[in-house]
Amino acid sequence: MKVTVVGAGAVGASCAEYIAIKDFASEVVLLDIKEGYAEGKAMDLMQTASLNGFDTKITGTTSDYSKTANSDICVITSGIPRKPGMTREELIGINAGIVKSVSSSLIEHSPNTIIIVVSNPMDTMTYLVHKTTDLPKNRIIGMGGALDSARFKYRLAEALGAPISDVDGMVIGGHSDKGMVPLTRLATRNSVPVSEFISEERLTQVKEDTKVGGATLTKLLGTSAWYAPGAAVSGLVQAIACDQKKIFPCSTYLDGEYGLSDLCIGVPVVLGRNGIEKIVDITLSDAEKAHLEESAAGVQKTNGLLEL
Ligand code: 2OP
Repeated sequence: MKVTVVGAGAVGASCAEYIAIKDFASEVVLLDIKEGYAEGKAMDLMQTASLNGFDTKITGTTSDYSKTANSDICVITSGIPRKPGMTREELIGINAGIVKSVSSSLIEHSPNTIIIVVSNPMDTMTYLVHKTTDLPKNRIIGMGGALDSARFKYRLAEALGAPISDVDGMVIGGHSDKGMVPLTRLATRNSVPVSEFISEERLTQVKEDTKVGGATLTKLLGTSAWYAPGAAVSGLVQAIACDQKKIFPCSTYLDGEYGLSDLCIGVPVVLGRNGIEKIVDITLSDAEKAHLEESAAGVQKTNGLLEL
């Protein structure tokens, strides 16, 4: 199993590290445009192999896409991260050109690859890959919901005073400060609905804190987060590589599901060796449906900024 990660910045390198530590891939190639940067990060990570106990081979390359040839999965993290006060959507001007060029170069060397898009604005970048490449839609995946759901579970556990391992919850919709739809109605503490433990007011606070999870960290860190984004995308890579048939909320191209068409947005999907193996069209409440439709309108507005 060969995985390429484009962008050896904090998110890309964290993703490579988590993939290596989970030790399910034979090879991870880190690629970056900055001279020597990916090579240095790969070497540093390889020097943790004996300490962290993995045999995955991590190599780095400066923009030589031939080194990525025949990758089973390619993760695109390249592009600029947001600064405090910025929205993800403000990154489109620079990141769209980068993602279009990177996806084309990856597919040229790995025509059968599955692409996972992380670069922001992620739903629109995923849509861009769908519109500018010939990859089938099951092999184009946007990572946002897995990260947002991890932040949702963090906030739920905090409100519950419970261990995170007892908490389950999912965020669907757009990966944007206003577009996320945390499904509090379906969230549970060891199979018990969280509404049995938390007031409606407190659940509203959990939802709001989840939506600005990324912005909260960007304000604290001065740049976008990287540990949880890297871990979230490594989980998607593992589900595909190990054919786990796990359900994740991922940004995927909709063609009528959830009453939505011609956009990529976060919905529950089954991930396996063929990428998105099924879109799970769950029954939403009227309020959830309205929130998802509002979120979709926001994503489509950002898509409209693309020069396709
Ligand atoms: C985040 O929410 C970078 O969009 C990513 O942290």
